[in-house]
Amino acid sequence: MKNIYSNIYKPTNNNLTKAKIIVDNGGVVAVPTETVYGLAANAYNNKAIQKIYSLKRRPSRNPLIVHFKNIESIKKEAFINKNFLKLVKKFSPGPLTYILKKKKISKISKLANKGLDTIAVRIPKEKNIIKLLSILKYPLAAPSANKSKSLSPTTAKHVAEEFGKSVKMIIDGGVCKIGIESTVIDLTTTPKILREGGLSSKIIEKFLKVKLTEYKSKIVKSPGQIGLHYSPGIPIYMNREKATQGGALIVFGKKNYNNHNIFNLSINGKLKDAAKNFFNILRIIKNKKFESISVNKIPNKDLGKAINERLKRASFYE
Ligand code: TXA
Ligand code: MG
Repeated sequence: MKNIYSNIYKPTNNNLTKAKIIVDNGGVVAVPTETVYGLAANAYNNKAIQKIYSLKRRPSRNPLIVHFKNIESIKKEAFINKNFLKLVKKFSPGPLTYILKKKKISKISKLANKGLDTIAVRIPKEKNIIKLLSILKYPLAAPSANKSKSLSPTTAKHVAEEFGKSVKMIIDGGVCKIGIESTVIDLTTTPKILREGGLSSKIIEKFLKVKLTEYKSKIVKSPGQIGLHYSPGIPIYMNREKATQGGALIVFGKKNYNNHNIFNLSINGKLKDAAKNFFNILRIIKNKKFESISVNKIPNKDLGKAINERLKRASFYE
């Protein structure tokens, strides 16, 4: 049998140097981050960015997040402001992505931000991607390492299941600590949350002492926020207590039942644990070929908001 996992590499210095050689030559590698695994390429290189889009089969209108090692390297590419400085000092490195105005002199490929006058920037916390960034002369554009619309990967094996050998190298950083994507905040005007994610918007609100409105407009500010996404490819039903015939049930908190089709996001009812387990459980259910997924009501607060946002998108059928 073919070993689909043979392109998974331990994050040794030697292997990180190999990853550097691949991206230096315009290739793509999969890297761990604390949120989800990313499919990374040289953010300055058009051809490399194009490879990400074709591997993911990502709609070309959807811009990518660019990953930096520090604030100084962000300043070269984008205009920073007071809110950015406050937030970045408090929450970065970490699961927060900032939308900033792009500088005219920026070397970031126009394909990465789809020719917009803004770019999405993030400083990840996971130590191996930081090690890789620190030996590179450019930032890494990296969307989540899954095929467009499908489940996000939280282990190196998930990435291999998505892409097989079409990605030469997957750096194995273990299970992602946070498990859902970064929170995206627009800082080009009054701060607005474009995507709920690994850092609760409530924590940001408290820290900035402002009410953060969710972005609601007919103009799509963040194209990744429309249509079916995060999908296991089978129907998802939210706010349910029972599975459908042939379906699985995802529960949250202490429950008295136990069955082969029941999966618990967090026995202790902790939203952080639920976020960490979320994509893995959806993938297990998908791989076991259940016909549908019913999900208990998840409290719509803190990281529960990010989970519910993803469930809603995954249950949206075009
Ligand atoms: O945690 C994460 O953010 C992961 C890891 C790998 O860092 N990355 C990730 O990337 O989730 P992706 O491409 O799957 O999601 C990027 C989101 C999309 O919703 C996209 O529309 C939005 O960020 N985005 C990117 N650039 C933007 C921009 N200039 N303005 C508004 N939204 C932008
Ligand atoms: Mg994604």
